[in-house]
Amino acid sequence: MISWDFALKLLTLPYTIIKAVLEYYTFGTPYSRTNREFKNSLYKNVLLSIEYHVSGNYKKQNLKAVVYQPITKVIKKFKSHPLASQLNNFGKKFDKYSYWIHESDKKDSKVLIYMHGGGYMLNMFESQFVFISALHYALDDHAAENTSILVVDYSLTMFDQAYPTQLFECLTSYSNLVKAGYKDIFLLGDSAGAHMALSIARAVAYPKEVEEQFNHYPKFKLDFDVCNLPQPKGLLLISPWVEPTIKPKVPNKRGINTWGDLGAFDTSLGDAYAADNDRAFINNFLNFTNTNWEDHWKNVEPLNNGNNLMIVGEREVLRDGVDDFYDIIKKSGKVDYHTEPGGIHAGLVYVECLDYASKKGAKRALKGDFKDQYLKNIIFSIFSPFIELPKTYLILPSPIDEIIKAIVDIFPVNYDDGSLAPAIVRLAWHCCATYDAVHKTGGSNGSTMRLVPEITDEGNFGLDIARAALESVKQKFPQISYADLWTLAGKVAIEYMGGPTIIWKSGRVDCVDENYVPPNGLLPFAYKDANHIRVTFTRMGLNDQETVALLGTHCLGRCHKRFSGWEGKWTKTPTKFTNEYFKVLLNESWSQGIVPETGKVQYYNSDSSLMMLNTDMELLRDQEYYRWVQVYANDKEKFFADFGAAFSKLLELGVVRD
Ligand code: HEM
Repeated sequence: MISWDFALKLLTLPYTIIKAVLEYYTFGTPYSRTNREFKNSLYKNVLLSIEYHVSGNYKKQNLKAVVYQPITKVIKKFKSHPLASQLNNFGKKFDKYSYWIHESDKKDSKVLIYMHGGGYMLNMFESQFVFISALHYALDDHAAENTSILVVDYSLTMFDQAYPTQLFECLTSYSNLVKAGYKDIFLLGDSAGAHMALSIARAVAYPKEVEEQFNHYPKFKLDFDVCNLPQPKGLLLISPWVEPTIKPKVPNKRGINTWGDLGAFDTSLGDAYAADNDRAFINNFLNFTNTNWEDHWKNVEPLNNGNNLMIVGEREVLRDGVDDFYDIIKKSGKVDYHTEPGGIHAGLVYVECLDYASKKGAKRALKGDFKDQYLKNIIFSIFSPFIELPKTYLILPSPIDEIIKAIVDIFPVNYDDGSLAPAIVRLAWHCCATYDAVHKTGGSNGSTMRLVPEITDEGNFGLDIARAALESVKQKFPQISYADLWTLAGKVAIEYMGGPTIIWKSGRVDCVDENYVPPNGLLPFAYKDANHIRVTFTRMGLNDQETVALLGTHCLGRCHKRFSGWEGKWTKTPTKFTNEYFKVLLNESWSQGIVPETGKVQYYNSDSSLMMLNTDMELLRDQEYYRWVQVYANDKEKFFADFGAAFSKLLELGVVRD
């Protein structure tokens, strides 16, 4: 019997499907707005929407009743799939726990053991069959002929088979392959399967540790000596679940977004890992972020010889854990770690492989059409460590600090007052300032300023310098979207100049379609009055207090007659973030004047060393604005706190994720 709430999920499926179809053709689904791979296929978008909809309710009873399929059944079904047609001995049993996907007839073939993901709770799905079968066709002919692929059908926690049952079974199959004479064994897994790949590699490298584990549970009797097992030749880890004992930290510290991430649903999957076993004991072996290099990983050969690859989705829920784990294992200096741009949890297995799922897609794969794709390149990279990944997939360094460092490097230049940082802040602000809270248009998502008409908006004159400077960062890290880069750069610039911490989250995408570009004329005009300021900022969803706090940014930088027609700086310290703007505004005596070359009206202080725009002066003339000017002039802490909150909000305008 399935639970009521799960039944409801099933009943509401048609709604989800219709919504996904409508979204696909209008605003885009969560998936089409992230990884660009997804958006060309309605099929992928609908399928993922369904999976995400249903998967919020993982209870054993539902899984057993609706989701579970024995591997023999899936094999039987998949046998008629075009992808299976050219696989040798597809579905043949190798030992008690494992089955061939492809058994090479070459005596000394390599073997790739695939351990599927699913939190140790779920069985191997058809999409995982597609993924692992497609892998065969993605290899070039010689590699395909010489590579056998095996899957382990380990027991599931859905049926109360707690860890380390899974390790026991996978390790047994590993040792059976060794007994059968296979020498080059590669371990591949996604999510929990990648955890398993690491567990096996560690068990073989640290046999005492694994013996201690199994001695604790008398029912596991190893009929082989772990000490005599050779190390695996390579490790391929896709979105490894390295902290099964911990619920992922959501929202997590690097601003990773979990919207639409299949790994982000009910995280209690992990609770089943130990069932009634001694949790405190088993946690020590399961949770890899509690380990250290010297005692737990140093002897693992593939981590030391570069024969490894770890891939994680940029915006997936498990990424923080993987990053922390990477901090431990990177001590070898040989760990190849990549972040898939915009990727969700195990996107490679659940999403990208869907290209091969349909009969048509499978036929193209058989013809070799997909040979140059990601799949081939990652797998080839572990078989042949000297083959490099294509540049397009060389991905976000982890952590994002390297991008931040590259941004900071562009600030000190011989520009204006010695820094480009103020211009970068203006770029970030103008990206966001087109937002319309009622119509939900504009904002930083899409980086529409790259396109006409926005690039030609007179309010944006001069910003080409900031954009060009950031282009060098983009060239170095092509995987970050412009929309993320420009906003991130704004945050980094504020902090670099001594301002408060700004919360920034990734996940913006660059639109390719000019239809998304807002019309010109949405930016505030500096010659206008308080009413105009209020209308403009209210349109963005910002109140008076936030407006005044944000205008405090005019402590930075200057006006350029060649860009806006106005000229001069607002404060004496234009590269330092302070509350000086408010102090100067209140304390200097201002008189109206004209920029001689352009005829623009502005305000000068008594020695004409500083300037104000009409909109700045309006803050003194409007009662409510004036109140906040006084507050911020007198209370720097308050200004910093309010500004930090307002600027963080600004960067998020129009960026919908959840
Ligand atoms: C009523 C609203 C605003 C108006 C009318 C306005 C207008 C202007 C103008 C005319 C310039 C000179 C551009 C040039 O000639 O290079 C400028 C510069 C600048 N604005 Fe604003 N601004 C407004 C609000 C803001 C806000 C809210 C921020 C930040 C959150 C901001 C940040 C900056 C910065 C940092 C510069 C200096 C850029 C540089 O040094 O190159 N402005 N603004």
